[in-house]
Amino acid sequence: MSQQVYFRQVRRSDLDNCAGLEQLCYTDQEAATREHIAKRIETYPDGFFVAESEGQIIGMINCGATHMDDITDELYMQLAGHVRNGKHSVIFSLAVHPDYRGRGIAHELINLVIEASKKKQKQSVHLLCKKSLINFYEHLGFGSPKLTDSSFNNSNWYELSFPLPSV
Ligand SMILES: CC(C)(COP(=O)(O)OP(=O)(O)OC[C@H]1O[C@@H](n2cnc3c(N)ncnc32)[C@H](O)[C@@H]1OP(=O)(O)O)[C@@H](O)C(=O)NCCC(=O)NCCS
Repeated sequence: MSQQVYFRQVRRSDLDNCAGLEQLCYTDQEAATREHIAKRIETYPDGFFVAESEGQIIGMINCGATHMDDITDELYMQLAGHVRNGKHSVIFSLAVHPDYRGRGIAHELINLVIEASKKKQKQSVHLLCKKSLINFYEHLGFGSPKLTDSSFNNSNWYELSFPLPSV
């Protein structure tokens, strides 16, 4: 596939497309609702980036910021504990349309969050994932996987982190 892909910060008008992509890429149990996506866009648009091709949103990443050292389910669901100046960035959703996978789009979206986090002088970028994606994130520079207390959707969730240099 050779269509050009553009990366940019999210806009309010992307809400329906982002919610649709979330539904497409995650199971019903794990997909953030349209309301959650709306809250992320409203609360922290500077941590929300999209990949666009031919007018369609084909990838997205969104994050929050927190001072908490452990990621909680409530942070994911309700942004509880999110504060703009939080010392850590926490990635909530990373999703790439199935037709566009394997082209480095997720890698580029993660880089956008890492660069934005560096500019905001965050100490690290964190995320939760299932065991099957630990290799993927380690390949992109994340490390120190640790099993968390989360049992969201009856799964085991691992926290990985990407330390940022202090400036
Ligand atoms: C996981 C996901 C975001 C990857 O998107 P993508 O755009 O295909 O990923 P990229 O092309 O940027 O891949 C980056 C690297 O990781 C590798 N990779 C991709 N998917 C992988 C996987 N499931 N496991 C291990 N490595 C993987 C790629 O080979 C690539 O390696 P390279 O840089 O040597 O070529 C996409 O499959 C997706 O949306 N899945 C459903 C939602 C999901 O599970 N999101 C993550 C929630 S924690």
